[in-house]
Amino acid sequence: MYKIFDTVDEVSRYTAQRLLTKIKAAPTAVLGLATGSTMEPVYAQMLQDLQHTPIDVSQLTTFNLDEYIGLSAQHPQSYNYYMCQHLFNQLNIPTENVHLPDGLASNIDTACQAYSNAIEAKGGLDLQLLGIGSNGHIGFNEPHTSFNSRTHIVELSEQTRIDNGRFFNDQNEVPTHAITMGIQDILNAKEIILVATGSNKSAIIAQLFASAIDEALPASALKQHKNLTIVLDRDAAALLPEPALQNAISTLTA
Ligand code: GLP
Repeated sequence: MYKIFDTVDEVSRYTAQRLLTKIKAAPTAVLGLATGSTMEPVYAQMLQDLQHTPIDVSQLTTFNLDEYIGLSAQHPQSYNYYMCQHLFNQLNIPTENVHLPDGLASNIDTACQAYSNAIEAKGGLDLQLLGIGSNGHIGFNEPHTSFNSRTHIVELSEQTRIDNGRFFNDQNEVPTHAITMGIQDILNAKEIILVATGSNKSAIIAQLFASAIDEALPASALKQHKNLTIVLDRDAAALLPEPALQNAISTLTA
């Protein structure tokens, strides 16, 4: 299902509400979380909504999608740092319930296996939040990643390193490798919300819309999922065919 809103603000309000509704209904939910600039207003909105209407988040469990290899949790560009800044520092989720891949693990293969196992041991993800890379990656699953993949090491594509270079002082500082949840881990989530905003996502969103399920386009794996919502602003949706656009235009009721 596509949902298209006029503005980033509406996209964020809708997505934050979906997350909070889930948490309210299931206080022990297991959430799969994402990073990236798309999620910043979503998390900000969530925190704002929680100030108005507090909800118990103390029983939640979270698993983040990915992390750069070689960056410590204190590195300002690590995803661990991002999550603390944008969400965790202001929520009382017990630290032992918060999970991110460890980019400094001494045995990364073992750590990857343990990460997928830990998700399964918790009964799987109830809801996975996703952004999308300009080359169609989800998490850090680059084009041609197997749809059966579990948490694994990735060599980042040049495109991804260039896209993410904007967060670093120097392009050479962008890590070459990362750990990501696999596509199978993501597909196992009971519910998935993919969010894309801005005109820089319009081409990949149009490609995703038109694409068959194909490992060349990682996000196309989501088309086989039974409970997927793709939430877009008008800019990200701009290249969708007109009938699809008209059908998916949504307005916030609240
Ligand atoms: C990164 C992350 C992805 C994210 C993507 C899009 O590469 N690994 O999980 O979806 O970037 O990020 P942004 O929202 O900044 O465009």
